[in-house]
Amino acid sequence: PRPILLTRHGESRDNVRGRIGGDTVLSGSGEIYAKKLANFVEKRLKSERTASIWTSTLQRTIITASPIFGFPKIQWRALDEINAGVCDGMTYEEIKRNMPEEYESRKKDKLSYRYPRGESYLDVIQRLEPVIIELERQRAPVVVISHQAVLRALYAYFADRPLKEVPHIEVPLHTIIEIQMGVTGVQEKRYKLMD
Ligand code: G3H
Repeated sequence: PRPILLTRHGESRDNVRGRIGGDTVLSGSGEIYAKKLANFVEKRLKSERTASIWTSTLQRTIITASPIFGFPKIQWRALDEINAGVCDGMTYEEIKRNMPEEYESRKKDKLSYRYPRGESYLDVIQRLEPVIIELERQRAPVVVISHQAVLRALYAYFADRPLKEVPHIEVPLHTIIEIQMGVTGVQEKRYKLMD
């Protein structure tokens, strides 16, 4: 079996302010997570001959990967966070206040709700297909550093969770989800590196 390690980027400045989307750098605690993650990855993959680190094209994942040395890094646009369209950069409070109909329709059907000029979870699931094909093909371990909505979809695929659960799966910050793909099925471990 070979591990696939899934993690969100370290806490970003927008996470602290409750803003969705955007492309900010990490907060202080996000920076600390990046170092702890590098430590963890180095130890966990020490005995592996090859492995690779996949990030999105957004700063917060690239910066989270930056203290990790010794493995090739690949940026995938398909790993970028769900595109919140006209709501990019807003807080949920602001969406509720300024666009109450949008807020309500999303609440009603979070899986298929598409942000105006943005994406739905179903869109994200679809664009992840090439990433999943490549993850299945790889023989070596992969560390995927991405975003909440994207990791919900990836996790649901490997853990065989139903589509309707995807937008509600818990993928907390500063936690590594390790998936082991063996002949007998999939095993999962979670490592919470900090609060
Ligand atoms: O910025 C987007 C969030 O990571 C996705 O969260 O789909 O629960 O609003 P949500």
